[in-house]
Order: sequence, then C-alpha cells, then structure tokens
Amino acid sequence: MAKTTFSSKLGVLLAAAGSAVGLGSIWKFPYVVGQNGGGAFILLYLACSFILGLPLVMNEFQIGQKSGKSVYGAYRALRGNGRWQWLAWMNVITLLLIMSFYAVVTGWCINYLFEAMTNTFAQMDANALSAHFQEFEMHSLKVILYAVIAVVLTGAVLWFDVSKGIERMTKILMPLLFVIMLALAIYMLCTCPNTSGYEFLFRPDFSKITPQVFLEALGLSVFTLSIGVGILITYGSYMVEGQKVASTSIQMIALTIMVALLAGMVIFPAVFAYGFSPAEGPQLIFVTLPMVFQHMWNPALMSSVFFFLVLIAALTSTISMMEVPIAFLCEATAQRKRPLNRHQSAIIVSVVIIALSILVVLAPQLFDIFNALTSNILMPLGALAISVFTGWFAPQALYQGSPVGAKIYRILLRWVLPIAILVVFLNSLNII
Ligand code: ALA
Repeated sequence: MAKTTFSSKLGVLLAAAGSAVGLGSIWKFPYVVGQNGGGAFILLYLACSFILGLPLVMNEFQIGQKSGKSVYGAYRALRGNGRWQWLAWMNVITLLLIMSFYAVVTGWCINYLFEAMTNTFAQMDANALSAHFQEFEMHSLKVILYAVIAVVLTGAVLWFDVSKGIERMTKILMPLLFVIMLALAIYMLCTCPNTSGYEFLFRPDFSKITPQVFLEALGLSVFTLSIGVGILITYGSYMVEGQKVASTSIQMIALTIMVALLAGMVIFPAVFAYGFSPAEGPQLIFVTLPMVFQHMWNPALMSSVFFFLVLIAALTSTISMMEVPIAFLCEATAQRKRPLNRHQSAIIVSVVIIALSILVVLAPQLFDIFNALTSNILMPLGALAISVFTGWFAPQALYQGSPVGAKIYRILLRWVLPIAILVVFLNSLNII
C-alpha cells in the first residue's frame, strides 16, 4: 500500500495549525484568560507554549515522521515491542472524550451561525440572550442534531484521502480564518475607543498567578497545541520528504498564539467597551458577544462573520481529532483478513462520537467532567508519557540537529518536561 502523505510542506503546516487553532483558541482561551486575570495568565500561557510546548510538539512530529505510522504502530515501531501500546489507546480514548463535548460546542456554533444570519439576536438584551442560550441548551434534540451535523461534516472531509480531504480543506479554511480574524481585530481597534480591554489583555498583574492558574495555563497550552493525544504523531507520519520538524513546529505554535491573541483582541475590547464581565465562563462567546455585536455596525453581518470564523476553527480541529482514531483503526486492522478501509473507519468513528455526544447532551454534568478531565489530566499525562517514551525508551536516532541541540533536547524530554508537568499536575491535585 502506498504511504499516505500530504502533498506539500505548507499542507502539513496548515493542517497542524488548523488542528491547534480551534475552540481552544477562540472559545476557551478568552474565557480562561477572563477567569484568570488577563495579562499575567497570557504570559504564563506563552511561556508554557514555547518552553514546554515546543519540545513536545517537535517530539510528536518526530515520532510520526521517523516511524511513518499512526499512534497504533508508532510506539511499537520505535520501541520494538508492544509495551507502550497502552499509550496509543490512551491517546485515542482521550480524543474520543474530547470530541464528545467538542462536537456539541461545534454544534452550538452552527446553530449560532444560522441564528446570526437570520438576525435572531436583534433587540435581545443580556438577560434575554442568557435565557436564549439556556433554552437552546435545554433543547436536547436540537443540540444533538447540530452536534451530529458537526460530526458528519468532519466525517465527510475524512472520507477522502489525507491530501484530498484534510489538506485541500485546511488550505482553503486556514487562510480564510486568518484574514477574517485580522479584519475583525482591526475593526475593533478602529471602533472601540475604550482601552480597558487591551489593558486587561496586555498589562500583567502577577499577583493573580497561583499554582492553580499555572495549571490552567499549562492545560490550555497543551489543549490548544493539540499535544499529548497523538494528533501531531499522526500528522508527522504524513509529512513530506525532508520537512524540517523544528521550523514547522515553531511556525505552528506562532500561528496558534497569534490567533489566540487576535481572538482576545476581538473579544475583550468589545466586552469592556460595553460594560460586560470578561469572566463570563464558557458562555462568553455565546451570550456576551451577540450582545456586544448589537452595538456595532450591521450586527447580523458582524455576528455571522464571527460565528463562521469560530466554526472554521472548530472544524479544522475536529478533522484532526477524528483523523487519529480513523488512522488507528485502519492500521490496527491492516493485517486482518478483512481490514477496515478509510470509509469504514470514518463511519465507525463518527458513530462512536455521535453516541458519546448524545450522552454528554443528556447528562450535562459529563460536559464539565470531560472538559476538565481531558485538558487538565489526560492531555498533560499523555504529554508526560510521550516525553518519557522518547526521553528514556525511544532510539537515539530520534534526536536531530547539532550534538549540543540534541543533548539539550534530550535533557528536556528526559527530565525537565516530565518533572514540570508532574509538579504542576500533583500540585493541582493538592498532593504536593
Ligand atoms: N487544539 C484544539 C483546540 O484548541 C483541540 O481547539
């Protein structure tokens, strides 16, 4: 069977950036920043993304590139035995749990996009919008329907080969996302005279930093960079010949941070200018923003453009999250009498995710549990395990670059990253 790859280096970069830039950057980043005091949290987030995130991103890309396999075969191929196979399963289970609520929020975006286009929010005040959101959330059938649409749209892209589906789609959607985001940020800069939003974002107040806030920053950077779940291993296995891992990783992280900051520059100036609270929580973009848009030029157009943007970001991430179990299934069954092809795997994975999403909608407490469990526990633990895997158990050949660089990289993966993740993690559980 011919090896699956992207057709260009740009394709890999945009697909990886598309995975990273998602609801994490546009839905989660603003509300987590809002709840954790603004600028100081952002500095922590930047530090976590570059100091801890960069080696972890590079590491996953390299595991994929060197092994040429999905998570199912990658650990086995590099280790020479199946002792790390539990990690492949953990990656897939974490992603299925993330997708269970991610599909629901992506469904909210689809609904809000339709409502914005039909000017549903016109004349609604803050209370009416909040009631509207709660009413929508209670309407289980509608929420499920939109979650199913989100999964089916993603499954439709993944039905095709990697270069025809993921690559073609992200090459269109990612540049569109950057252009819309930049245009919105410039529009806010020109129309919001109030500087409180920018001060909130960019003036750090270090008294706000606590171990819990540090954990949030670490969790958010691991979540937004798609680390610890094997997405980057899978995309690394699709890299084109000669693609440089270090520069692709730096570019991917830079693009992700840029979009998250731009999202903050779209959301906070407007939130402050019209007297709303930045610490609204997960409802921030669904309740506060439609309200804020009412004060702007052409509210229906502005909110439609915004929710279209969030939807693009969400879909380029769901694509990457569903690709991992699909590639896993194809590879795991490749030696069987009846191997699963891409189409069959895409259907199976879609059905499982739809079932989990229905569970999350019907038992809403699972939403918060899965959200916290995946970004604060399973993803950091996955990152820790992958780091230990490479640092201690993978062959030396995985280290690239100059001898000094390789040495530093190895120390980071062996000691610094596992200890940092472990300390933050145990601290969050009040164990140390
Ligand atoms: N990295 C993806 C996001 O931020 C999961 O939404």
